[in-house]
Amino acid sequence: MIELHDIRKIYQLGDEEVHALDGVTLTIRDHEFVAIIGASGSGKSTLMNIIGCLDTADEGTYMIDGQEVSDLSERQQSILRNRKIGFIFQQFNLLPKLTAYENVELPLIYQGVSAHERKERVLEALTKVDLAHRVHHRPNQLSGGQQQRVAVARALVTRPSLILADEPTGNLDSHSTKDIMNLLQDLHKQGNTLVLITHDNEIAAQAPRRVRLFDGRIISDSAADTPDSMQNSVSPGNNPDSGQDSDSSAGRPERLSDSDIQQNPDSSLDTPDHLSNQDSTAAADPLSERTAAAENRSAEQPQASPRSRSHESSENRNGGDAQ
Ligand SMILES: Nc1ncnc2c1ncn2[C@@H]1O[C@H](COP(=O)(O)OP(=O)(O)OP(=O)(O)O)[C@@H](O)[C@H]1O
Ligand SMILES: [Mg+2]
Repeated sequence: MIELHDIRKIYQLGDEEVHALDGVTLTIRDHEFVAIIGASGSGKSTLMNIIGCLDTADEGTYMIDGQEVSDLSERQQSILRNRKIGFIFQQFNLLPKLTAYENVELPLIYQGVSAHERKERVLEALTKVDLAHRVHHRPNQLSGGQQQRVAVARALVTRPSLILADEPTGNLDSHSTKDIMNLLQDLHKQGNTLVLITHDNEIAAQAPRRVRLFDGRIISDSAADTPDSMQNSVSPGNNPDSGQDSDSSAGRPERLSDSDIQQNPDSSLDTPDHLSNQDSTAAADPLSERTAAAENRSAEQPQASPRSRSHESSENRNGGDAQ
């Protein structure tokens, strides 16, 4: 369960204050599928970054499964992200030098999952997104839709309970958009909580609950008109708590205990060769700015002009690791 109360985020740009979030109060229950809609600049990514513990609010409280996030150290927040949250971004954010297989494997390495189990889970995830025949391809050898499917596989391979998708179809054609939306619907049916950010009303209409932002405030929430008993959008047959499909190995999201958060995730790290020369601090968190910066330095990315570079760095803060 996600509970945001009176969240404010203010950016200071010279003399100007930008109220990116201006008192957002929002509860998202386990297994919900919520679309966050709003025009460009309305605060959607800022909200997602706070929900995903990629950024912190200036004011207000944020509890995730009863745990106040601001009480956690950066390290603990990073572990929480890695164990509990799967991210999907508009720009895919795959590491360009790694194959599809290696990109999907990465979060499992951070979790210290054994090589044998990693192989099983990576292949299972890539099969789920219908890419078992592209495991050795690098991102630049894949179409946009395929790259986003790799990113979905990377997000689901850790069996996160919460999936955050920021404009996941923003760079895709209508066919690939349909594929990705079907995959997201499947993830929701399997019991994941899904938060989908979009400015596209047609995409948003596929979510049972829609929350609209305007200038950093929630101006409508379709759940507000729904009787309490109807708000949980998962049908009994799909609800993991309904008693059906009780085998936790069947891809069901795992809840994270406090002891998991305290535990050092690197203790059983079994790093394959292709990662051993990476900066270990950056490698501690695939979404850290340092990883993002490394990714932006990749030879595949054209040199940005100073103006677009500063835009990119602001995108990085927004999206964790855009480009
Ligand atoms: N790092 C930053 N520094 C200063 N202002 C920022 C920063 N990040 C975001 N903003 C401002 O905060 C507001 C909300 O930005 P945000 O990225 O959350 O919007 P958005 O709804 O995701 O827009 P889009 O649909 O274009 O992605 C905008 O006015 C933006 O200019
Ligand atoms: Mg955005």
